[in-house]
Amino acid sequence: MSHAEDHAGTRRDFLYYATAGTGAVVTGTAVWPLVNQMNASADVKALSSIYVDISGVETGTQLTVKWRGKPVFIRRRSQEEIDAARADDSAALIDPLAQNANKPDADASDANRTLDEAGEWLVMIGVCTHLGCVPIGNGAGEFGGWFCPCHGSHYDTAGRIRKGPAPRNLDIPVAQFTDETTILLG
Ligand code: FES
Repeated sequence: MSHAEDHAGTRRDFLYYATAGTGAVVTGTAVWPLVNQMNASADVKALSSIYVDISGVETGTQLTVKWRGKPVFIRRRSQEEIDAARADDSAALIDPLAQNANKPDADASDANRTLDEAGEWLVMIGVCTHLGCVPIGNGAGEFGGWFCPCHGSHYDTAGRIRKGPAPRNLDIPVAQFTDETTILLG
């Protein structure tokens, strides 16, 4: 690892913990073996999928979990956040794609970014699409969503890039509800 890479990693770690310390709730997550998958990569898949208990996440707050070495933001949006995001569906968006692994090639309308139809749950990889810093959440930035202080990228309440150098909306990982209070990542 070069010195530059080492420095970048240190900075990301700092931002991650700084973000977690300013209001994000971090709880333990469980890794369950996926015993029914009998192919050669079953072990790898088991380790790369996690179940997240979201029962303690209140409206207007965010849970941050670490998954595959990256922070994942699980936000339970308030009605105001949902309304703000949907009101901007017709705005000139920098990235017109949803960047949602669960909906390949879908457009970036708010409904294509959320995990549930009502738009309450937004699950995103918490890594800025510019150079990889961890954005600050809880209403940060000019669009009330997330702000990356490294070079000034502003994301809206749907995690869409609205201003600054980041080229892409925050990525949405493969995710699904397994019951009302559990999300499976991966
Ligand atoms: S890494 Fe986020 S703006 Fe550059």
